[in-house]
Amino acid sequence: MKKYIQKLPKAELHLHIEGTFEPELMFKLAKKNNISIPYKNVEEVRKAYNFTSLQSFLDIYYAGANVLVEEEDFFDLTWEYLLRCKEQNIVHTEIMFDPQTHTSRGIKFEIVINGITKALEKAKKEFGITSFLIMSFLRHLSQEEAFVILEESIPFKEKILAVGLDSSEIGNPPQKFQDVFKKAKELGYKLVAHAGEEGDTSYIWGAINLLHVDRIDHGIRCDEDEKLLEYLKQKQIPLTVCPLSNVKLKAVDTMSNHNIVKLLRAGLMVTVNSDDPSYFGGYLNDNFESLVKSLDISKEEVKKLVINSFKASFLNSVQIEKYIEMIKEV
Ligand code: HPA
Ligand code: ZN
Repeated sequence: MKKYIQKLPKAELHLHIEGTFEPELMFKLAKKNNISIPYKNVEEVRKAYNFTSLQSFLDIYYAGANVLVEEEDFFDLTWEYLLRCKEQNIVHTEIMFDPQTHTSRGIKFEIVINGITKALEKAKKEFGITSFLIMSFLRHLSQEEAFVILEESIPFKEKILAVGLDSSEIGNPPQKFQDVFKKAKELGYKLVAHAGEEGDTSYIWGAINLLHVDRIDHGIRCDEDEKLLEYLKQKQIPLTVCPLSNVKLKAVDTMSNHNIVKLLRAGLMVTVNSDDPSYFGGYLNDNFESLVKSLDISKEEVKKLVINSFKASFLNSVQIEKYIEMIKEV
């Protein structure tokens, strides 16, 4: 099955570029930019990756992002992830970035976006990897602050396909961002939001009914509400599920109790993704392998999950069909 997973051309729809920051690169950039980090070496960093909740992870994740300063830093970060994509046969990726994490430290929006997009263009040219960018608002900050970053994004609009919503979920419900999502839609952005990772089903309903999202990031708590399950199935609203993340952040106690296969068999549009692979113990293929190891999942179901990722992507229907044809041949 490992070989089969490797061979399948795959898409990734839930990936935070700041969450691909490997400790080796973090140390290198900290030194280059003369920024201190609270760890002596790479081993110490990895040891700190023992999380008890989403917040315990976010504290470390934002601290790590502090060493990203120059355009080339954002390029290097993105390029390292794209090399992993090539290695793991990920042919299409929809990448989230958190501009507020950087602009709040005085880093210019254009530094962030130019570094990331230069790497994406190089990967398209050299490896044929296609990609889109999703600009995520930090939900622990205010809606006014989200409006400021939305405004700042307008000159770079052709480089950004969608907006998203991430960071601390509980206490920061979708309704807090209703107006800025409405404005983003008017500007032509596609919409996604994290919901139902730690938050209850009201967060998923809110993302659907108040933010009008095209996809839900995570959404695993949907099975606590029969009506919601039925709705997600009927409308085929995609859920970008991240199995290793859910176990690492204790949203699920063990992989064998993960509900992704149950949701797939119930007819929901579920997909597999890596979220923050440097922090959660693996990239996309590792997520698939972990599912195969712990859950009773067939080859056909693995294939279905991979096909779902293309169907749930923001690619056009011709591109989607082309990729699905490629998968069918594997
Ligand atoms: N949830 C919320 N915010 C995040 C995550 C996540 O899994 N990863 C990076 N920011
Ligand atoms: Zn996420």
